[in-house]
Amino acid sequence: MSRKKIVAGNWKMNLDRVKATELAQAVAGRHAEAGSVELVLCPPAAYLTTVGTALGLVHAVSPSGVTLGAQNMHDKASGAFTGEIAPAMLVDVGCSFVILGHSERRTLFGETDGMVNAKTKAALAVGLTPIVCVGETLEEREANRTQAVVTTQINGSLAGLSAADLEKIVIAYEPVWAIGTGKVASPQQAQEVHAIIRGLLGALASPAVAAKVRIQYGGSVKPDNAADLAAQPDIDGALVGGASLKADDFLGIARAFA
Ligand code: 13P
Repeated sequence: MSRKKIVAGNWKMNLDRVKATELAQAVAGRHAEAGSVELVLCPPAAYLTTVGTALGLVHAVSPSGVTLGAQNMHDKASGAFTGEIAPAMLVDVGCSFVILGHSERRTLFGETDGMVNAKTKAALAVGLTPIVCVGETLEEREANRTQAVVTTQINGSLAGLSAADLEKIVIAYEPVWAIGTGKVASPQQAQEVHAIIRGLLGALASPAVAAKVRIQYGGSVKPDNAADLAAQPDIDGALVGGASLKADDFLGIARAFA
């Protein structure tokens, strides 16, 4: 089963309008380096339109093929939710993807599997592809609870999704201890959990559906460690934080998956 590789840049709360524009233009201008790898840029919400314009997006289609993603959203369609962004608004400004349940959302902003589940369903309902994040803390790994934690997160975040919907989503396995620490998971550690996740998807839907779902690895991915990760059978791309803020590094990672 060959799955189209996908490398996404999670810019988190970084850059400014000018730098965001320049980075998007640089990635779009050099997208050919990534070959058939799908590239997604996820800027801060304030710059979604700016980056969408830089990518030349018209109704989510960009000439370079580089697409736009958000880092979060609310699960409700509209209403009195001060400071929140509705799923359809993301579509309206050109997003095709939305990162959901990132560990920073879970730990710093109290997002639960139930909330991630509601958001995942809401994203799918408007045609956005959710990138659903899961991953264990160092404490959990050291207590041999990685499998249990990831199982709870996957089953909770994806509860009630049809096989047709499961097939459309992207999963990101991001061990919390590897995020922003420079401590990347070894290719074997990552592959082991990716295989567990694919097994869980198989149980939720079917092995055939699980074989179609793309599972990204995230956590200190850099150009010099990406190739070993990309060589693993169940690693279908990367969700990149720090290294996505430089076009050279982001494209270097994408090339490793090409
Ligand atoms: P780093 O690549 O900076 O470790 O961040 C990973 C991440 O959280 C991507 O969502």
